[in-house]
Amino acid sequence: MRSLMDILDLSTEEIDGLIATANDIIADPEKYQDICAHKKLATLFFEPSTRTRLSFESAMLSLGGSVLGFSAAANSSASKGESVADTARTVSCYADIIAMRHPAEGAPFAAAAASSVPIINAGDGGHFHPTQTLTDLLTISREKGRLGNMTVGFCGDLKYGRTVHSLLNALSRYENVKMVFISPRELALPDYLREGVLRQKGILWEETADLEGAMPQLDVLYMTRIQRERFSDPEQYNRLKDSYILTLDKLACAKPDLAILHPLPRVNEIAVEVDDDPRACYFKQVLCGKFIRMALILKLLDEAKRDPVPAPLYAETPVRIEGAVCPNPRCITSEDGRIPRLFHKKNGVCRCAYCETQLSL
Ligand code: NCD
Repeated sequence: MRSLMDILDLSTEEIDGLIATANDIIADPEKYQDICAHKKLATLFFEPSTRTRLSFESAMLSLGGSVLGFSAAANSSASKGESVADTARTVSCYADIIAMRHPAEGAPFAAAAASSVPIINAGDGGHFHPTQTLTDLLTISREKGRLGNMTVGFCGDLKYGRTVHSLLNALSRYENVKMVFISPRELALPDYLREGVLRQKGILWEETADLEGAMPQLDVLYMTRIQRERFSDPEQYNRLKDSYILTLDKLACAKPDLAILHPLPRVNEIAVEVDDDPRACYFKQVLCGKFIRMALILKLLDEAKRDPVPAPLYAETPVRIEGAVCPNPRCITSEDGRIPRLFHKKNGVCRCAYCETQLSL
């Protein structure tokens, strides 16, 4: 039995398999409509969501299964002080699979360590969002016919945008993908991705604040919302919130076959006039999100049936370090002192096993 915390938990062959299943579901949905009869999906959403929660629920219903869950922390025992580990352990007595979203980074790891059924990370703070990445990969592969040999621009809030973090991790494994990161300096990529992924994997990448300057080279443009809920300073949010607004004028120098993606919700960063441009793919992307989640639920339930013993959550076993504390205030271990503090040590660098923030020892 396996959980999905990070997109890198899946090999590229497994991702290809999920994309193939999703395409088969799109071609013949009736073949799948009863395949999960009598199975239950629990959606534990400690943070707001429209698309992710409803697409998971729609996915399970379209497979003939049932759904239960909550859509806000206030409607759960978290409001009484229950830990995510205890909530997950409890709900795994009621459901066959769990999709969980939480504002604290690394929270799904704490849940998965306590659960007897697969847990899917449906977004943990500003950290990761692997099922949005599966959605993005299905959309890109349907639009472009490939996942390598392209230039992908990421624009907006690259610091807190968890969808960007997971997608760049996924794309770093494909051949000849150049990445262009377009953001104000204050919202540039976190260090653990710049050092730990881009530099380490030798990715061809550049950073700029100039969207129009970057436009002509792009095959895919991934727009994102400035993540208001992650800012500790509202003044800074107000200053940065309209940093980029994609309009038809700005697309004048774009390739004719550019694919414009956005995980949604959009605030102001794509003008409504762009919606009718054939390059706008963000509503097709929404639909892809349901089909790829159907494929993922099928895969994880099938694996759990064949082998109910939980697989290790990490490729390398994390360690305890006497007196070490994760410095990230948004990490689940900062929020909940009951969770064991675990770390990974690699090449002389020590990182929190939940949120990957680097420690200075
Ligand atoms: C994203 C998220 O929740 O991270 N939305 C989504 O899951 N479709 C992006 C966002 O909220 O900006």
